[in-house]
Amino acid sequence: MQARTAFQSKTVVTDLVLPSETNPINNLFGGELLARMDRAASIAARRHSRRIVVTASVNHVAFNRSIPLGSVVTVEAKVSRAFTSSMEVYLDVWIEDRESGESIKANEAIYTFVAVDESGRPVRVPELIPESDLEKERYEAALRRKQLSLVLAGKMKPSDATELKAIFD
Ligand SMILES: CC(C)(COP(=O)(O)OP(=O)(O)OC[C@H]1O[C@@H](n2cnc3c(N)ncnc32)[C@H](O)[C@@H]1OP(=O)(O)O)[C@@H](O)C(=O)NCCC(=O)NCCS
Repeated sequence: MQARTAFQSKTVVTDLVLPSETNPINNLFGGELLARMDRAASIAARRHSRRIVVTASVNHVAFNRSIPLGSVVTVEAKVSRAFTSSMEVYLDVWIEDRESGESIKANEAIYTFVAVDESGRPVRVPELIPESDLEKERYEAALRRKQLSLVLAGKMKPSDATELKAIFD
């Protein structure tokens, strides 16, 4: 199975924040951003695996900065590491300054997708080749995050989480 670069899965979705998508203080509703990120991440995972993909977990979301009504929001998703059937997808969210056009980092998130067959059974995915320093950094840390996610989901015993133990030893 041919390995692919992170860049080959890159997915960029830009859209406005409309009044129906805001909370009572006129900022983008968190669930709306989660949905936008889920869509972009699923496209990235599909581009990497060229299979049907399902969201297995949302590992991390940081709503660091509120996103006001009328903002232009760009969600960028790239596969950061592929395992056997699962893929970690890293998302960066940017808003555009209206006057300068400058991109300002608003949020980031990490999702896990699993490639499945028509019956929903997990199938193998190609390896991911990280290229830039940031892609390499995210690739390295992804196994630790996978183990943490599995431990929190009750699917892995903490004693088997070798990468997590290495941090605390
Ligand atoms: C995701 C799903 C396919 C995993 O099925 P499963 O029976 O747990 O399968 P497995 O135990 O073989 O795990 C498959 C992969 O998912 C990974 N995985 C499962 N749960 C995970 C979690 N909580 N966090 C991170 N990875 C997870 C496993 O580590 C494994 O990865 P690998 O093959 O790369 O090593 C299954 O739980 C599912 O279909 N869930 C519903 C998905 C869905 O409908 N999403 C939309 C929600 S509305």
